[in-house]
Amino acid sequence: MQEQVIYYQKRAKEYEQVYQKPERQTDLLAIKEYLSTQFLNNSVLEIACGTGYWTAILANPATSILATDINSEVLEIAQSKTYPKENVVFQQQSIEDLTSVTNEFEGFFGGFIWSHLRKEDLCSFLQMAVNQVKKGAEVLFLDNKYVAGSSTPISRKDEVGNTFQIRTLNSGEQFEVLKNFPDAEELKLLVEEIGTDFEWIDFQYYWMVKFRKK
Ligand SMILES: C[S@@+](CC[C@H](N)C(=O)[O-])C[C@H]1O[C@@H](n2cnc3c(N)ncnc32)[C@H](O)[C@@H]1O
Repeated sequence: MQEQVIYYQKRAKEYEQVYQKPERQTDLLAIKEYLSTQFLNNSVLEIACGTGYWTAILANPATSILATDINSEVLEIAQSKTYPKENVVFQQQSIEDLTSVTNEFEGFFGGFIWSHLRKEDLCSFLQMAVNQVKKGAEVLFLDNKYVAGSSTPISRKDEVGNTFQIRTLNSGEQFEVLKNFPDAEELKLLVEEIGTDFEWIDFQYYWMVKFRKK
């Protein structure tokens, strides 16, 4: 986990280059359109918000967003953006610290963090997520599908089935990063215990999963 955190810290200034890949533009536009209608008039907790790329979209329909990330370097970039409704509060916070049950938020969003979690930690992670929101609240995750030729190749797989990639920063520095690519069935099974109205929204390069807290 630590190597991944340092990787994102050092990648902060070049992070949004990933959203410039030409082949992904159609998907990204469709996702932006989709997200611009989610969490209408909701108070939302966003985890691992990074540079605020999705925060800026979600801030329009939402009433308020508490956007959190472990890295101050990405939060600084997110904070420097304009949020016309002035309804976003940023907070440096690790997902491991979200242990208390607040039942407070009306929505929960996590973009591109699911893939960085160990398979063996997903049940407790999901429990943490639903502990933050009211009953019936919408929980939404967005992440990558593995697409040969566009995704960074998988460098190794561990005994549990977690997969890893070697990521190279513009400086040439390399990191081994955990990156899992779950399918709809795996996600559905995990969500069954805690959620209803499970929806898998399929894109060419991305997946989105939406459900309501039981
Ligand atoms: C792939 S980026 C996603 C950023 C943003 N959500 C997006 O979709 O553009 C993953 C983010 O997770 C953050 N992160 C990694 N480990 C974390 C942890 N344990 N707690 C909170 N944030 C974490 C990193 O700092 C990074 O900003």
